[in-house]
Amino acid sequence: MESVIGLVNRIQRACTVFGDYGFENALPTLWDSLPTIVVVGGQSSGKSSVLESIVGRDFLPRGSGIVTRRPLVLQLYKTEQGQEEYAQFLHNGNKNFRDFSLVRKEIQEETDRVTGKGKQISPLPINLSIYSPNVVNLTLIDLPGLTKVAIEGQPESIVQDIESMVRSYVEKPNCIILAITPANQDIATSDAIKLAREVDPAGERTFGVLTKLDLMDRGTNALDELFLLKRPFKFMEHWWLTYTPPHPHLHTETQKLNRQQVGNVMAVVTFLMDLILKLTVHLTPVIEGRSYRLQHPWVGIVNRSQADINRNVGMLAARHREREFFAASPDYGYIASRMGSEYLANLLSKQLESVIKARIPGIMSLINQSIDELEAELDHFGRTVVVDAGVQLYTILELCRAFDRVFKEHLDGGRPGGDR
Ligand code: GDP
Ligand code: NA
Ligand code: MG
Repeated sequence: MESVIGLVNRIQRACTVFGDYGFENALPTLWDSLPTIVVVGGQSSGKSSVLESIVGRDFLPRGSGIVTRRPLVLQLYKTEQGQEEYAQFLHNGNKNFRDFSLVRKEIQEETDRVTGKGKQISPLPINLSIYSPNVVNLTLIDLPGLTKVAIEGQPESIVQDIESMVRSYVEKPNCIILAITPANQDIATSDAIKLAREVDPAGERTFGVLTKLDLMDRGTNALDELFLLKRPFKFMEHWWLTYTPPHPHLHTETQKLNRQQVGNVMAVVTFLMDLILKLTVHLTPVIEGRSYRLQHPWVGIVNRSQADINRNVGMLAARHREREFFAASPDYGYIASRMGSEYLANLLSKQLESVIKARIPGIMSLINQSIDELEAELDHFGRTVVVDAGVQLYTILELCRAFDRVFKEHLDGGRPGGDR
């Protein structure tokens, strides 16, 4: 059975093609009802790097300043083990890219084609599909970074333009928000978290991602900043050591021993309480005096630094190093299995799948409605539209029908005989 995410990906792409032929009004509700994951954050917070880490390939333009200047709709398709990886753009048909550095070049050129070289942005998305045995089925959207001031060569309105563009994606209730915040910046001022809190006040569809954990100062760690509750237990330990100073002449040897044992027990209790808190309490950053609690756990990430990129450190080496960083870290070691880009990719894929499954009945009724509309549209335009557009109409109609069939199977799944 095809995965539901794969199906949604195909129908999304079909809707996009369909839009290109001037029928954009036929399926807007269907398109809007399909869940996607959108990457949001300040400029150079590491958005494009996180996407690359999730994909496990090196293919996006990245760097300091405004690099991502058009939305990139990235659809990942998991293929059979042993098959060759390749990428396709919607704007140049069926050309297969096997060299991922050419993918980056194509994104840059396609960006410039619409915005001109320079620092302008455009809301017109670039659609890219990647087929690989090493990815999980996902649709991800990379967006230009939020900024606070226009720079030379940009119109004054750019700050607002970027925010409106990002907002138009994240305000849809079916959008899963990947809110990226660099760990070496104050989380209280995170643009991503601020915007997420506005459009998703209950924190139900926002995933907090901390990048650049490797750049934290020694002695501070990002979790400390988030874990306000940890403090009382540190305080207890401190209190024990401060207010029960040893007075050797007042204690018998046994008392000294007891005291030492109690001290050890205290240390263990403190450690366990910290651990329990870290494992059970969700991290809650406080923004502008109000805390914003996410329903999903925060995930820490270590991407490649600019120096790594300049030195051509490969993706596999980077993932390996990221794993080692967490495993060896005194701050994150105990949650190493819940940190890093591989964990994030799996978490997102599971989330997307469960969101889609929860929405199947709604999506199905929209699909049936779309089938009716499409049939009517075909009847009406059938003879006058360009051949290509006619073919696309049929394609999308067929997809809708297939979609409907498979969703019914998913709904019936687990029931012997599947009859209902
Ligand atoms: P975007 O503008 O948000 O898409 O950010 P990019 O992905 O383009 O990254 C901006 C810069 O930050 C690049 O030079 C990256 O190499 C660097 N960077 C991103 N993530 C990390 C990280 O986790 N650690 C370090 N050291 N550098 C990072
Ligand atoms: Na950047
Ligand atoms: Mg970027």
